[in-house]
Amino acid sequence: MGSFDGKVAMITGAGRGQGRAHAIALAEQGADIVAIDIDHQITNVPYSMTSPGDLDETRAQVEKFDRRCVTKIADVRDFAAIDVAATSAISELGQIDILVANAGAYIGGPIADTAVEDWTTVIDINLNGVFNAIRAVAPHMIERQYGRIIATASGMGRHGAENLASYAASKWGIIGLVKSAAKELGRHSITVNAINPGMVDTLIVKNDYLRGLYNPELENPTDEDVAKKVYQGNLHYIPDVPFIPVEDIAKAVVYLASDDARYVSGGTIDVGAGYAANHM
Ligand SMILES: NC(=O)c1ccc[n+]([C@@H]2O[C@H](COP(=O)([O-])OP(=O)(O)OC[C@H]3O[C@@H](n4cnc5c(N)ncnc54)[C@H](O)[C@@H]3O)[C@@H](O)[C@H]2O)c1
Repeated sequence: MGSFDGKVAMITGAGRGQGRAHAIALAEQGADIVAIDIDHQITNVPYSMTSPGDLDETRAQVEKFDRRCVTKIADVRDFAAIDVAATSAISELGQIDILVANAGAYIGGPIADTAVEDWTTVIDINLNGVFNAIRAVAPHMIERQYGRIIATASGMGRHGAENLASYAASKWGIIGLVKSAAKELGRHSITVNAINPGMVDTLIVKNDYLRGLYNPELENPTDEDVAKKVYQGNLHYIPDVPFIPVEDIAKAVVYLASDDARYVSGGTIDVGAGYAANHM
């Protein structure tokens, strides 16, 4: 018997990385999964976002636990597509109890040089994408008087970030959205929270583009060079490796989705190996 037997979780950005880990962790405890991801590169995102077969691999991992997994290809920027994905998942699996609005991306560069299209793309994916997912499931959750909504913000939703203004602004925005949704939806027994990961072991950070963005002065920067810049000398917070395993973020998702967290709403949980010690 798992804690999520009979529950259904919809997860955006579930093709790889943290989203896949959340799908696996929730399925391991009994949830059926609706795994949503985009199937193509957004052209102005400067690192590889997705690979063919990502969602199939997530489904295979979920099915190892004898759970059902329906996969949906949809761009979180497109409300109609997310709404159709949620509606068809509800008719296939019966309901959606848990939403993990996790899809995210970034485009770096100084504000003074940023193309307006790049700013808009990041806000569209990270902030509007979380809104679209919440908007798609909220009426269904209100009707059922039950829901757990978890949005992935970031430690960067707590401070400014040089060369990543759109990313930081979008993640601050998610926290404002989560707090507002918690006020509106609490009376329907729906909790809404955000998770602020620190630096996590996924391809969104482990790529040449980010290595260069953080270390323009180095010829061949490494992931460890990125870690030093991100944590600005505070590596004593993270004794093993600078990159947090995805499973550790999934544990926070599992907690917020569980009955143990029934009175936890409107908040944020930082899983950043001490990163949060540097901000409010
Ligand atoms: N890895 C980190 O260090 C870190 C730190 C803090 C916050 N985050 C956030 O965690 C979340 C998960 O990221 P990750 O680390 O797993 O990175 P990732 O790049 O491995 O996974 C992100 C997933 O989101 C999907 N996605 C992106 N844009 C989409 C769109 N428009 N529609 C549908 N799917 C889309 C991608 O295809 C990908 O599968 C993101 O919101 C990210 O901003 C990551």
